[in-house]
Amino acid sequence: MRQQAIALFRASFGMRPRAAASAPGRVNLIGEHTDYNGGPVLPVAIETRTTVAVGPGDPEILEAVSERDGQMVRVRWRDELPTGWAVYVAGVLRELWAHEALPPDAGVRVAVASDVPVGAGQSSSAALTVAAARALSQLAGQRIAPRHIAGIAYRAEHDHVGVRCGVMDQTVAALAKAGHALLIECASLVTRPIPFRGRLLVVDTGIRHDLAATPYNTRVAECHAALLRLKVDLPELLFLAAWPAAWVGRLRRALPQPLRNRALHVVGETTRTRFAAQLLRRSQLARFGRLLYESHESCRRLYECSAPELDLVVGAARRAGALGARMTGAGWGGSAIVLVRSLKEEEGVAAAIRRAFRRAYGRDPVITPVRAGAGARREAVR
Ligand code: GLA
Repeated sequence: MRQQAIALFRASFGMRPRAAASAPGRVNLIGEHTDYNGGPVLPVAIETRTTVAVGPGDPEILEAVSERDGQMVRVRWRDELPTGWAVYVAGVLRELWAHEALPPDAGVRVAVASDVPVGAGQSSSAALTVAAARALSQLAGQRIAPRHIAGIAYRAEHDHVGVRCGVMDQTVAALAKAGHALLIECASLVTRPIPFRGRLLVVDTGIRHDLAATPYNTRVAECHAALLRLKVDLPELLFLAAWPAAWVGRLRRALPQPLRNRALHVVGETTRTRFAAQLLRRSQLARFGRLLYESHESCRRLYECSAPELDLVVGAARRAGALGARMTGAGWGGSAIVLVRSLKEEEGVAAAIRRAFRRAYGRDPVITPVRAGAGARREAVR
């Protein structure tokens, strides 16, 4: 991807880029829809990456081009937000400016190349914002710590693009360590890498979504409404995920549907994720896998963020003997993950999923073995 981004930059702008950086996609092992509720998440970065090559341009102007559509976007980034993918880059520019890492009249040229699938629940947007924040800060001669890069990328998406996302995707894209999952406690932003030795398949259902067009923001609003009601019982409650797990009865009584089910998912998923992180640390993959199935069931039934295609993949994986499987990311389509013991089991499980999927939908899902990759890094521009 590095070479493609650099070649695209040269071809589009007739000059060499001054800086470049890349960031990975991710899958989430467990801890779904807990991040914006102040709970824990346990994602792994994967080996697909987005590379952003940058150079100086006309004052106040963002010019951006992506290998995917080849169209050149040109906007005065402080005054107008572009439509399409370039809005993420404009959001990053505005946040770098707010961070005093860029002058208000900065003009930049940006070329993007990526093999992270878009809308597949593998966080192509965080790969883009984190790589852009890293490359643009290098261009401006600023050294910004990975944790702050994650913050800039998060606010770009949350405040400027308008997806009410949590911090998971940007944090793992900025901080991941190869061969490790990353436990992120989203209320405190404390992170801990945990060695990940499992074999993982990502099954892309091909059902595409743009987060802004899913019920994602509705779920965020429901969780907020649940929090406000629960504060009557427990005024010091800052986040939904902090509701005591032992008080589930009180939670049930306090909340009408659908807020009750949403909150039950968040509280249950919080306990499951912390337990799963302990099991992973002790390499107890069989018990870890069972929690993945439980998490999927909770996402499907209580949070209602699954899709029939995802349920089918998880069911087929279970019948074929996989250790665990679940939808990953926001849901409503996108991808599922499947945890297996060995290469031999991987082949058998993948074949079973493919058969079941083909029977139901008359087409093949894309099944890829993934390894835990590294976080954002600078890329050489020569
Ligand atoms: C999307 C968001 C994340 C997180 C997940 C659901 O990927 O970007 O912040 O909320 O959905 O766990």
